[in-house]
Amino acid sequence: MRIPADVVRDRPGCGPGDSAECFRKEKAMGDFWRGRAVVITGASSGIGKDLGLLLASRGARVALVARRRELLAEVEAGCVAAGGEAVSFAADVADARAMEAVRDEVLGRWGFADVVVANAGVGGLNPGATFSLDLHRRFVEVNCMGLANTLVPFIPSMVARRAGRLVGVSSLAAFRGLPAAASYSSTKAQQGVFLESLRVDLRQAGVAVTSIHPGFVETPMTDHDEFRMPFKIPVRRSSVLIARAIERRRRAYLYPWPMKLLTYLNRSLPGWLYDRLIPRLSGQSGHVSARAF
Ligand SMILES: NC(=O)c1ccc[n+]([C@@H]2O[C@H](COP(=O)([O-])OP(=O)(O)OC[C@H]3O[C@@H](n4cnc5c(N)ncnc54)[C@H](OP(=O)(O)O)[C@@H]3O)[C@@H](O)[C@H]2O)c1
Repeated sequence: MRIPADVVRDRPGCGPGDSAECFRKEKAMGDFWRGRAVVITGASSGIGKDLGLLLASRGARVALVARRRELLAEVEAGCVAAGGEAVSFAADVADARAMEAVRDEVLGRWGFADVVVANAGVGGLNPGATFSLDLHRRFVEVNCMGLANTLVPFIPSMVARRAGRLVGVSSLAAFRGLPAAASYSSTKAQQGVFLESLRVDLRQAGVAVTSIHPGFVETPMTDHDEFRMPFKIPVRRSSVLIARAIERRRRAYLYPWPMKLLTYLNRSLPGWLYDRLIPRLSGQSGHVSARAF
């Protein structure tokens, strides 16, 4: 069921065209985020930007991290206008020293971080026949090392407080090697497995670890037509679902449900069938060249 535009409230939140589920889950968010100190990487655009705006509108204190300073400043202003406290840091997640400096700034300002969301990532195609190692290296540096550089510096302070939530934004692409996606699928799989091990290690220390696996979400990363993107959802719906998954300390959260179902079906296909079926289903036509989105 869709909510008609004229019943949409004028504060930040689910908007015209969003599903009833979005409004229901947003309402269920309650007061959890009020006063929480939250770090979000990849906050200049797409999922990270919208999550920052949503959490700020629920009273969170958000530290926004990305490379593009001007965009970050706009998001920071939007967070303050939405009712939250915000600060932004221009940093490259692939730079471990820069991310330690972000940690120092956040702990210096707020004393602790309740939630750290490693969301910054690079997407794109890297087809086997013309595989680019340089592009692959970038995927590894940003998606794999970037996630570790973001989360690991906060672990000692969370363990000392016996509180905190570490979150990584992986993808449903993590569960099978998709066509022309050796770089993307493999680095997203690495993120999921990395987070799972951290989760096991930190459970007794009172620190929750959540692995988020979105299907297709409307962001600049998916603003192209190089392959099919079934069940693509608005970014606000994605933010509400991520926020709820963090609140509920979900271990791994896969969404939206039709894509989760397709992912399970896809995983159960035997290799000989998968190899023949998936290139056709993906909708990639003809030659694709290596590029990041
Ligand atoms: N959109 C989808 O359908 C979808 C589906 C599954 C998973 N995901 C995952 O969701 C995450 C966010 O994607 P999105 O769709 O929101 O994409 P997006 O709109 O392109 O945003 C990517 C964000 O990552 C930041 N970023 C990239 N490289 C960085 C670096 N080296 N250091 C710091 N920040 C960096 C970008 O900021 P700067 O360029 O300013 O640094 C930007 O804020 C990614 O991890 C992606 O893999 C997305």
